[in-house]
Amino acid sequence: MATASLAPVPPHVPADRIIDFDVYNPAGIEVGFHQAWMRLHGDGVPDLVWTPRNGGHWIATRGHLIRQFLNEPENFSARVMIVPKEAGLEHKLVPMNMDPPEHGPYRRVLNQGLGPREIRNIEGDIRAAAIALIEAFARDGKVDFCAEYANVFPIKVFLAFSRLPLSDAPLLTRFSNSMLRPEGTTPEEKAASMANANAGFFAYIAPTVAERRANPGDDWISLIIHSEVNGQPVTEYETLAMISLVLLAGLDTVVNFLPFCMDYLARHPELVALLHADPARIPARVDELFRRFPVVSQARLVTQDVSYDGVTLKAGEMVLIPSTLHGTDPRENADPLTVDFGRKKISHSTFGGGAHICAGMHLANLEIIITLQEWLKRIPEFRVAEGFQLVAHSGVVAQVERLDLEWNPAP
Ligand code: HEM
Repeated sequence: MATASLAPVPPHVPADRIIDFDVYNPAGIEVGFHQAWMRLHGDGVPDLVWTPRNGGHWIATRGHLIRQFLNEPENFSARVMIVPKEAGLEHKLVPMNMDPPEHGPYRRVLNQGLGPREIRNIEGDIRAAAIALIEAFARDGKVDFCAEYANVFPIKVFLAFSRLPLSDAPLLTRFSNSMLRPEGTTPEEKAASMANANAGFFAYIAPTVAERRANPGDDWISLIIHSEVNGQPVTEYETLAMISLVLLAGLDTVVNFLPFCMDYLARHPELVALLHADPARIPARVDELFRRFPVVSQARLVTQDVSYDGVTLKAGEMVLIPSTLHGTDPRENADPLTVDFGRKKISHSTFGGGAHICAGMHLANLEIIITLQEWLKRIPEFRVAEGFQLVAHSGVVAQVERLDLEWNPAP
């Protein structure tokens, strides 16, 4: 990814708050995605900084501010939640780009489709998909975990849950890529990438909406199409924008979270041994993995002039409130790069916070639990291939290119 162009720094931004940080291409990413972001936790880096990249925007660098800003929609609006602002304005999804109280009734519709009960109903399908994929390579003794599992499993599960054909995955993945890691170096180029992909999602889903309007099923897409908000049927635009949001969010996140986890576990056999020793505690231990491997970096639009940490954020400016910097903040979690299954208090916002807290967290959580359970039964010990280093890209959601794992296959 090329480095974003530089914008002029506004006069109200103090010189000691300026830091050169490109959310789509942070310096040092070759050493590690989370390590590159954690430069913003370094000594002397204030809690609020300004970067001239991606149109120029603030960044909340610490967990306490990230949590606070996520919960202050009156000051920090989700109407624009991606930098650069020009690109964020082209991201038009419902109810992601709404604030409370408008957001609430739409969110209740999503909760009905993606709630814990709905997800428990498909647990058997999720498990079957995981087992089939793992058994396909378990005897090989090696795999590119991204190509053969992480890029396939969540998408297969999610498209089946949505009653959409698996053959549509490459097209949807292309749209997700362009929205979550928009192409180009200038705000205008990134805005064009975002607009095309947003329109692509709408055009893709429109025929399915027409078909399920006529022949509803018991899937979440049919539920959205036939739902009412404030006593009125949801409009065609709202329907397309809600379904596109869930597709976008459901197709990219687990895909990129999983390889970070598996890369770490492959390098820490003592943690794998702990998971084997007490498989019943795998579900409880997953939260520490969510803390350690946040992948989403969301932003908000400042609605009015507000002062925090000795600086003024002006109405119309953008502020990044990245989940990526919360769980890894050493002020929130001691020794944050270490996965510690015995950690007493786990602080993170990997699934966001406030009104927009992830609507798909029940599905994501179960997918990770099932992956660990079924993987460890079939591949009890594993390691990364000699000399292998994870290659990751940054964006609204981080992306991992490949992960070469090896093990001694059962005779
Ligand atoms: C590891 C996996 C996942 C992570 C880390 C994650 C993270 C997040 C975060 C941080 C947000 C809030 C963004 C913001 O405040 O701007 C969010 C929102 C959302 N997520 Fe997830 N997510 C994951 C998986 C999923 C899945 C599998 C789905 C769909 C089935 C999903 C659906 C959504 C939706 C619809 C929203 C918007 C909710 C709203 O605006 O009210 N997510 N997610």
